[in-house]
Amino acid sequence: MAVRKLTEEIYEVGAIDWDRELFDELIPLPDGTSYNAYIVKGSEKTVLLDTVDPTKKDVLFDNLDYLGIEKIDYLVSHHAEQDHSGTIPEVLAQFPETKVITNPKCKGMLQDHLHVSEEKFIEVEDGEQVSLGNKTMKFIYTPWVHWPETMITLLEEDRVLFTCDLFGSHMAASNLFVEDKGRDYLSAKRYYAEIMMPFRNLIKGHLKKIEEYDFDIIATSHGPIYDEPDFIIDAYKGWVSDEVKDEVIIPWVSMHGSTEHMVDHLVDTLIEKGVKVTPFNLTTTDIGELAMALVDAATVVLATPTVLTGPHPKAVYGAYLMNALRPKTKFVSLIGSYGWGGRMPQMIQDTIKNVNAEFIEPVIVKGHPSEEDFKAIEELAYSIVEKHEGSKEII
Ligand code: FEO
Repeated sequence: MAVRKLTEEIYEVGAIDWDRELFDELIPLPDGTSYNAYIVKGSEKTVLLDTVDPTKKDVLFDNLDYLGIEKIDYLVSHHAEQDHSGTIPEVLAQFPETKVITNPKCKGMLQDHLHVSEEKFIEVEDGEQVSLGNKTMKFIYTPWVHWPETMITLLEEDRVLFTCDLFGSHMAASNLFVEDKGRDYLSAKRYYAEIMMPFRNLIKGHLKKIEEYDFDIIATSHGPIYDEPDFIIDAYKGWVSDEVKDEVIIPWVSMHGSTEHMVDHLVDTLIEKGVKVTPFNLTTTDIGELAMALVDAATVVLATPTVLTGPHPKAVYGAYLMNALRPKTKFVSLIGSYGWGGRMPQMIQDTIKNVNAEFIEPVIVKGHPSEEDFKAIEELAYSIVEKHEGSKEII
């Protein structure tokens, strides 16, 4: 149990998950996470904003007990994913008078996933307000961050914007507010890269919509919250912009060293040319680090040997993730070797069709690279440098 106080009438009552190592059985959590939920005590009504992952429901109920909460009039559900909604059925069982406030799409999803019954809901429209007496909640639709039903709530008089996943970070920390900006920036960037990046263009619109409102605090449902909202809003503006950095990343895998030698030569040549370059060994890399690098690198060069006529499965995984995350990468190329033949280049290109980047002629060699092949790698590096120099979107 650990209740964290924002004001005399607003409390964080969720749970810190120090030990969780993986989210969605996919995303590594090097710093754990938290499921922030908030109690707001109005002069007439009390509201709970979101719940917690079902594995931490006892923490939520202990926190509500500690605050002496005997009645919850409203439960606002911003997002139907179970790390925030999964304890709604237990809250409704313990507080039978509670009504769930949400939008029609989220209502449908809560019915599908949690079997919450129809009479428990109050549906709200975009921009609708609900009074708690001395406080007013205004609901703002922000679809696709990162599910189609997501919305946020502005507590107008207190100037607190509750954003659920949006602006969050997977970080377990006892401090309620951001204290270490450098650490939190990286954690929030990792979260953006893994979860929000595919919806970059929609988020641009949401940022404009949010800026119409006045608030002093952004209270997310993961990680420390922001008492300087511009810090995270400015970071998001950079991440969702069309601008990229003069950087090359090379997700690679090699079986017997031929592809690895090609990667090494490309890395060395790019360093010589003054371009920032980072190789990611796909057999060991933390995919969160790779996702973060995809946020603003201008160029991605995938490197893979040929296995059973196609790319190495680890390279397919890297390419598939890149395709799903839809980074704003401007240029893509491919290097690698083969023993006797195959369709590796075409299969990689087919896997990254969502990435709207110019494809630079790949360097694919037979067996171990020769002197001529190494020269072709150098030509690829020079071509990348030239493309970067000619791009207006590289900062
Ligand atoms: Fe934190 Fe999309 O749930």
